[in-house]
Amino acid sequence: MWRRYLMWFAHEHVDFRHAEMNSILSLFNIPIKFIEKPSVIRPYWIVELPSEECVKKIASRSVLLKNCIELWSRAKTVSQLHKNLKGSVENSTGEWIIGDSEHDGISDSHLCPKELIESCCSVKSSFKIEVETFCKHFTMKEKVEKIETFSYLPLEGPVKLKNPDVTLAYLEFYGVDPNNVPEEPHDVFFGKWVVDGQRDLIQVHSLKKRQFIGNTSMDAQLSIIMANQAQVRRADLVLDPFVGSGSLLVPAAHFGAHVWGSDIDFMMLHARTRPTRVGQKVRTKDESIRGNMRQYGIESQYLDVVVSDFSMPMWRPDLKFDAIITDPPYGVREPTERIGIDREQYSLSEEHMVNHIPAKVEYGLPHIYRDLLNFAARHLQLGRRLVCWYPLVREEYKEAQLPSHPCFKLVSNSEQVLSKLTARRLLTYEKVHDDVSQETVEPNDASYNFREKYFSVGEETRRERKERKAEELATNPLWRAAKNRENAT
Ligand SMILES: C[S@@+](CC[C@H](N)C(=O)[O-])C[C@H]1O[C@@H](n2cnc3c(N)ncnc32)[C@H](O)[C@@H]1O
Repeated sequence: MWRRYLMWFAHEHVDFRHAEMNSILSLFNIPIKFIEKPSVIRPYWIVELPSEECVKKIASRSVLLKNCIELWSRAKTVSQLHKNLKGSVENSTGEWIIGDSEHDGISDSHLCPKELIESCCSVKSSFKIEVETFCKHFTMKEKVEKIETFSYLPLEGPVKLKNPDVTLAYLEFYGVDPNNVPEEPHDVFFGKWVVDGQRDLIQVHSLKKRQFIGNTSMDAQLSIIMANQAQVRRADLVLDPFVGSGSLLVPAAHFGAHVWGSDIDFMMLHARTRPTRVGQKVRTKDESIRGNMRQYGIESQYLDVVVSDFSMPMWRPDLKFDAIITDPPYGVREPTERIGIDREQYSLSEEHMVNHIPAKVEYGLPHIYRDLLNFAARHLQLGRRLVCWYPLVREEYKEAQLPSHPCFKLVSNSEQVLSKLTARRLLTYEKVHDDVSQETVEPNDASYNFREKYFSVGEETRRERKERKAEELATNPLWRAAKNRENAT
């Protein structure tokens, strides 16, 4: 039965909220109705969903969702919220009653059916009421006072703080600007807590406690978002062709996929690079991608990793993956290289072949993404997804610069700001055609070089900072006096 819910999100990675939720909704084929237009300045959505089971499915995946509440009342003022709830307790129609005082398209006085409240109030149901406030802190005593204002609810069961049968939630929203907190909340909500999202998984998979990490390991939260946007399902076959320390394989395996990776860096795949943690001199024996999988109890999902240059893929032509999730090198913290030699007409004698370590040449970003999309066109199942990061200089960004391919539709594109000047975008492509799978597409802008831009804008800002500092000093009277004294002696 369709019910109204309040979906409360973590107020971070806001640009990824829609992308993650849309992926999960389409993964489980769940329809959604927005009761209020979602906005990035609010950490919640008010929606209607077909059943509690659907809510639980969404929460079983989303890392950006904090929790979901079956919404009994929502108002713009505390007194209106109580008026609504009291009205609901007496509402004998068994229907939602929507009042006529409109705010942002939502009624200020809607009454939920009495039965909804009564179903939680039996003598046998233990309960507790939780108070959450956003952008304003209250002491425990103040929270208890708020709880006591709900004493008119016909709750007959015992109060139980740990694992009660019913958790009721009261939420006050004071906006998102900590420097401008109003006296009274902008919005207040009351309802029955249904389920939490996957925020705990961020701690469980935290890089701080992971056995093996590298310099460019992806943090747990973003890795989970990527697995969700790739719509990873149980028994999928998932590949990361720039696997590094394997952090993107972790959530994919957690969600039940069989995971596989490749990387050009032998030392990284054998966990023999210099330790990443400050103060650690040598890597321990347990450090490996497999060790991480064992740490999280998902070793059975781990197929293996293989040392391989992505520009020379080694996969059987008919092999298909269900998802490709990857973070290619940007050329800043790790080189963008492929096997090759600049000299023309180079040949190697038989005797040198045995111990030969191949030379490497530059593997520019446009060529990496060209190869990635061409590879995915050949090796991804139709209807499935490629999820990858793309670094760029913010002020130069144009959507047209993003890699494209006739076999793929770009279904989401979210920005993570890295510095004032640079960002990376998480791109999610869905494979929409198979018929042009052999087509090789050249990059949109073959000369795009993020590394060069990164260091040139970095240089510029370093120079600007130096000049600004010098200017500040020169206009500082204390500094001028000290300088004059220095010159005088
Ligand atoms: C940004 S890092 C990926 C980090 C990874 N997500 C992790 O969790 O550690 C990019 C990786 O691409 C690898 N790489 C660079 N050039 C490559 C190539 N030609 N073929 C395959 N891998 C390559 C690097 O060795 C590096 O490990």
